Amino acid sequence: MSFRYRLLTADDQPAFRALRLLGLQLYPENFLSSYDDEVGTPAEEDRERLSRGVSRGLFDPQDRLVAMTAFIPETAKRASHRAYIGGFIVHPDAQGTGAAQALMRNLIAEARDSGVWQLELHVNETNTRARKFYAKHGFREAGTLPNSIISDKGPETDLFLVCDLRG
Ligand SMILES: CC(C)(COP(=O)(O)OP(=O)(O)OC[C@H]1O[C@@H](n2cnc3c(N)ncnc32)[C@H](O)[C@@H]1OP(=O)(O)O)[C@@H](O)C(=O)NCCC(=O)NCCS
Repeated sequence: MSFRYRLLTADDQPAFRALRLLGLQLYPENFLSSYDDEVGTPAEEDRERLSRGVSRGLFDPQDRLVAMTAFIPETAKRASHRAYIGGFIVHPDAQGTGAAQALMRNLIAEARDSGVWQLELHVNETNTRARKFYAKHGFREAGTLPNSIISDKGPETDLFLVCDLRG
């Protein structure tokens, strides 16, 4: 399937919100924020967030948003080779279709083009599917974050993953 990758803007708010809330609802341990935190958020707050230019989306041939993530480069000059990836989510219907790979490939190309060569993210240690996916794209464990969130199940542990794009 061919996908289109682009910056998400304030105009994408309804699709962004639908996918974000679905992710928080289906995978509560995999995100810092919870469904309850965000379900009442005014649309204007989402639009403001999208206006910051850090959200990237992947669209299917019917122009539906099927995956998205935040791409947050460091601003300090000495750390400008680094960027953080957050909120990586693929719609359940699009999981296993190559959408996740397409989003990551485009993100890596954009990072390289902008001079970023180190990508960083946190992933819940129990999230085997995501860990496999990130490992395939060259992410390696660089640390552990205990008590990342206190979920309904208790304290969760995150792994800090780093991908060096220079190789
Ligand atoms: C994590 C995510 C982005 C991966 O995208 P995806 O389309 O599901 O990726 P894939 O289908 O390529 O699966 C990745 C690997 O996990 C394996 N996998 C599939 N289902 C699995 C399961 N239930 N448990 C463990 N591994 C599984 C796949 O076989 C694949 O491994 P392989 O390439 O060796 O065959 C996607 O599942 C997702 O959005 N999950 C919910 C949100 C989330 O956890 N985001 C990450 C936050 S850090």
